Amino acid sequence: MLTADSLLTMLKQIKSFFRILTQKPHIPDRQKANEMVSIILHRRSCRKFNDEDISDEDFHLILEAGRFAPSTANLQTWSFITFTRHEWREVFNRPIPLNGARAVVICADIYRNKLVIKEFSHAPLVSCAFAIFNAGLAAMNMNITAECLGIKSIMLSDTGMTGLLDFSYLKEHLLLPVDVIPLTTLVLGRAHDSSSISPPRLHINTIAMKKNYQASAPEDLFEWFERMKVGFKLFHSFSDLSAKIYYYQEKMAGVEKELKEIFLQDK
Ligand SMILES: Cc1cc2nc3c(=O)[nH]c(=O)nc-3n(C[C@H](O)[C@H](O)[C@H](O)COP(=O)(O)O)c2cc1C
Repeated sequence: MLTADSLLTMLKQIKSFFRILTQKPHIPDRQKANEMVSIILHRRSCRKFNDEDISDEDFHLILEAGRFAPSTANLQTWSFITFTRHEWREVFNRPIPLNGARAVVICADIYRNKLVIKEFSHAPLVSCAFAIFNAGLAAMNMNITAECLGIKSIMLSDTGMTGLLDFSYLKEHLLLPVDVIPLTTLVLGRAHDSSSISPPRLHINTIAMKKNYQASAPEDLFEWFERMKVGFKLFHSFSDLSAKIYYYQEKMAGVEKELKEIFLQDK
């Protein structure tokens, strides 16, 4: 029997579903024809690639975009480990996740800098924070360049053991030195199935604050989280967000321990 509570939940879900489907980035009319703005705001992660390859020339251009990303004091604290389909299979004994054509494992790299700037060893957390931030910028430069070339992509840190959550596994398979942290894998290819639905974004007023920090209203956050749950179901019909969060929590605890052992021990 349908109770008042379950009816209310259903109505909330329908509202969330509707809001997800109708969510669009706000672009002023004057900028609607601006191609770069459109590429950035309409970029979506691709979760199914077709069998087509991408050219070496395009792939190198994407890596070049990573090389020319900005970084703290130009320290370039990143390494990109690149793969064709064949190379991925050789190392991991399985296909690139989601049938990607190429993959780039993006690592935060403080190993290289430490060899020449010994002083940085005294601030491991700050060095890590800078390195992770910079590597993220390089990843995004590559992602957007791929979009400009008509190539779709997704960053993965979990699906297919591709990032930070499988820290030890990647360290071992990629022969990473200490101080090189695998963050995420940028999977690239031609879209077989590319969603135009954007997972629910927080409202601009929740994340952009004038002059000082303003705490969010809890009801706005719960409303967004409700949309996240509904959005998750749209992309993963056989799972739900709570199960995923529990799974992340377990994996994160393991990696947390490993990272503390490596980066916070007295040197
Ligand atoms: C660092 C990073 C890691 C991610 N890892 C995964 C992943 O393991 N599996 C997955 O399906 N999506 C992954 N994503 C994609 C996000 O879920 C996606 O970017 C987010 O839901 C927003 O959707 P959009 O990229 O289509 O705008 C990852 C994204 C980032 C930036």
